[in-house]
Amino acid sequence: TVVRREDYAPPAYWIREVELTFDLDPAKTIVASRLHIERNASGPGGPLVLHGEDLNLLRVQADGQSVSFRHEDNLLVIDQPPVAERFVLEVRNTCAPAKNTQLSGLYESGSGLFTQCEAEGFRRIAFFLDRPDVMAVFKVTLRADKRRYPTLLSNGNLLEQGELDGGRHFAVWHDPFPKPSYLFALVAADLVAREQRIVARNGREHLLQIYVNRGDLGRTEHAMASLMASVVWDEARFGLPLDLERFMVVAVDDFNMGAMENKGLNIFNTKYVLADAATATDDDFFDIESVIGHEYFHNWTGNRITCRDWFQLSLKEGLTVFRDQEFSMDMAGDESARAVQRIEAVANLRRSQFAEDAGAMAHPVRPDTYAAIDNFYTATVYEKGAEVVRMMHTLVGRDGFARGMKLYFERHDGQAVTCDHFAQAIADANPGSALSEHLDVFKRWYAQAGTPRLHARGQWDAETRRYTLTLRQDNPPSPGQANKLPQLIPVQAALLTPDGHELAQRMLVLTEAEQRFVFDGIDSAPVPSLLRGFSAPVVLDDGLDDEGLLVLLKHDADAFNRWEAGQRLALRRVLAALPGTDAPVLDAAFIEAMRAVLNDGTLHPAFRALALTLPDEAYIAEQVSPVDPARIHAVREAMLDQLAAALQPDWQRAWAANQVREGYRPTPLQAGMRALANRALAMLVRQAVASGDPVWPGRAYQRVKDATNMTDRQGALWALIGARSALAPQALAHFHSAAQGNALVLDKWFSLQAMAPEAPGDAGAGVLGQVRALLKHPDFSLRNPNRARSLVFALCMGNPAAFHRIDAAGYVFWAEQLLALDVMNPQLAARLARALDRWNVLAEPCRSAAREAIARVAAKPDLSADLREIVTRALETE
Ligand code: ARG
Ligand code: ZN
Repeated sequence: TVVRREDYAPPAYWIREVELTFDLDPAKTIVASRLHIERNASGPGGPLVLHGEDLNLLRVQADGQSVSFRHEDNLLVIDQPPVAERFVLEVRNTCAPAKNTQLSGLYESGSGLFTQCEAEGFRRIAFFLDRPDVMAVFKVTLRADKRRYPTLLSNGNLLEQGELDGGRHFAVWHDPFPKPSYLFALVAADLVAREQRIVARNGREHLLQIYVNRGDLGRTEHAMASLMASVVWDEARFGLPLDLERFMVVAVDDFNMGAMENKGLNIFNTKYVLADAATATDDDFFDIESVIGHEYFHNWTGNRITCRDWFQLSLKEGLTVFRDQEFSMDMAGDESARAVQRIEAVANLRRSQFAEDAGAMAHPVRPDTYAAIDNFYTATVYEKGAEVVRMMHTLVGRDGFARGMKLYFERHDGQAVTCDHFAQAIADANPGSALSEHLDVFKRWYAQAGTPRLHARGQWDAETRRYTLTLRQDNPPSPGQANKLPQLIPVQAALLTPDGHELAQRMLVLTEAEQRFVFDGIDSAPVPSLLRGFSAPVVLDDGLDDEGLLVLLKHDADAFNRWEAGQRLALRRVLAALPGTDAPVLDAAFIEAMRAVLNDGTLHPAFRALALTLPDEAYIAEQVSPVDPARIHAVREAMLDQLAAALQPDWQRAWAANQVREGYRPTPLQAGMRALANRALAMLVRQAVASGDPVWPGRAYQRVKDATNMTDRQGALWALIGARSALAPQALAHFHSAAQGNALVLDKWFSLQAMAPEAPGDAGAGVLGQVRALLKHPDFSLRNPNRARSLVFALCMGNPAAFHRIDAAGYVFWAEQLLALDVMNPQLAARLARALDRWNVLAEPCRSAAREAIARVAAKPDLSADLREIVTRALETE
């Protein structure tokens, strides 16, 4: 059944307070709830209908009296609730955490019990009005075996704890802030905590705690440092303080997503908590800081002000991603490190969101319909949503945005609201801004799916010394949206002379299909630098030739556009080579430009590493139709071979100059040096393998053995795998034994193998054959989401050339794993299903084979609603 945004209606009843008592047991947990219900005077009235899923109902009473009810179709219906304005409904039910393989609701991971309620998991714990506009104050009593579950946590403040008979104990928690059920959490496990007290600006003291399994405490230092930095940053940048005495983070091994912002009790995938130099890479350290920040920032943007309904998901997610990106940039420090962050965020957006916008699942930032809301925790809602917030920030400026946030909290603190409320607050705080003048046009970003195409052509007139720039936008159709209106596109623009001198700089605001912008006093034909900092999530066609792009690559003061110019030069060469069958031959101009960047010691090493990275296969695939993944892979690999050979001495120099001599710290500078050194190593090994020289592969192998940090160990291993060196298998074996059973390191070991480059023209089992063998490895299990992602998802979603095989074996594998996953974990299965989002643009024979595989899955009678929605949409794109 499909839910529609336009059908929203307020609930007939509110739940103001909840008292929950849990007798926790993995086989059968008993839940007693007392719901303080109030009739919604302005609502439709009628029966009281509560959600409940996979629950065993024991008893229902209203105001202490029995009441008649129906329990059917995951609903508990009370046709005649008490007529009083307020009454108390008491419900008792049981649930079975040990059998809950979906990891939604209350489930078992290791020997502990954990919850995940967003979006609709609470109904798998207790009967409730499980919708975000119903906000209640929760009081929670937990009772459990003390030896097995010494740690008992829930949201808010600990009121009381003590002993019970029979080796059991209890804890009572109270959360003073009314919250929707999706923010409820409990944990019962055997955990240890790192603790830190901090004093806020107003002098109030808070206790920060990070709970992990015994033995993992030594790897929580970075998470704690990140949490402290998050608290300080939100108060300094937005004036938003921590509003709780105690803030807890709990790490869990089995988790469907990254992390969850439950009020005062964030629950995290271990991947985003645990790190030390030996087991985590620089990227892992960065991700931990960013996700810790993200969940912490939700405390205001998500929890204090939440979503009225799930169509508004981007209200909290887009805004919170924007906030975590700003946090990461502020933490990075100097301008060049900030620019690196921006480049990485944009590369990620284009890889994931642009591809999404171009496929079967294209949807607006604020979707109009869904069958399973869990399918809409997407790159569009998150990353494009963050770009929409960033455009508002660009339009009103940093101070204007801060004013807008302030007004947003003044108006809506404690409420469940919509994306309109947010945009209105930012606009109202900035009268006279382009945002408030064109708010309706701007809000089309929420309503229209698809990536706008921005076409720019300039004309310089020597006589009038005038440069006229014509901007035009095309908004191509997407599923269900044939005709679109023009959007508001902020274009940060500058004009440069060919030697890089800046002649003019302006923000252009395009609000119509086509507009002209005039620059006066321009004495020579300029090179335009448009969309600086990626000021809008669009595809730009500015008609620049190689010469113009080389000017930007050399001189643009905007680091993003500088990087972008290099990417466009590379992309242009890939696209030119794709139609043929020959290997591309890189021209001297391109190679020399790359050499210049590589050797430019004034540039941040991380920037150089990014500039020397060719556009990835997913981004290339998004630029062409039909898509031939094997050909894209072959062309890109051949270009890498040439860059490896042509720049060999430069790579050697970069390798030598970027060895970090001090002790390991995951700072932007150290991480940048390691990124550049590891890129150089990969190229040196590649060149050596091609020419039969044993030295560099030998060095890489040695490094796998004696690296003192995971970034360098993994980098060296990847250099061997990526070059298909004969030493790769031995190096992998060493890596596995050094992992010593560490789950997060084993995940890396699996995914490096699943991402290995497919050999050219390999008619054999290829990478898929390796992956199939690894399914039987004693360390593999489809049940653990991280492990499933590290092997199965890494192949199907991270290695297009190995997955899209012309013998269709990749699709057979996909369907098999999909169906195996669907019976235990529908949310995860639905994610994997998206590997074939763009089947429709594949070149034959892949296209037909992929379609057939999807149709075979769709023909199964009892798919989960989650998976059903994805395959149905996929087939509709034909
Ligand atoms: N709100 C969480 C976050 O972004 C993610 C929850 C994901 N839930 C889901 N059903 N996919 O921080
Ligand atoms: Zn979030």
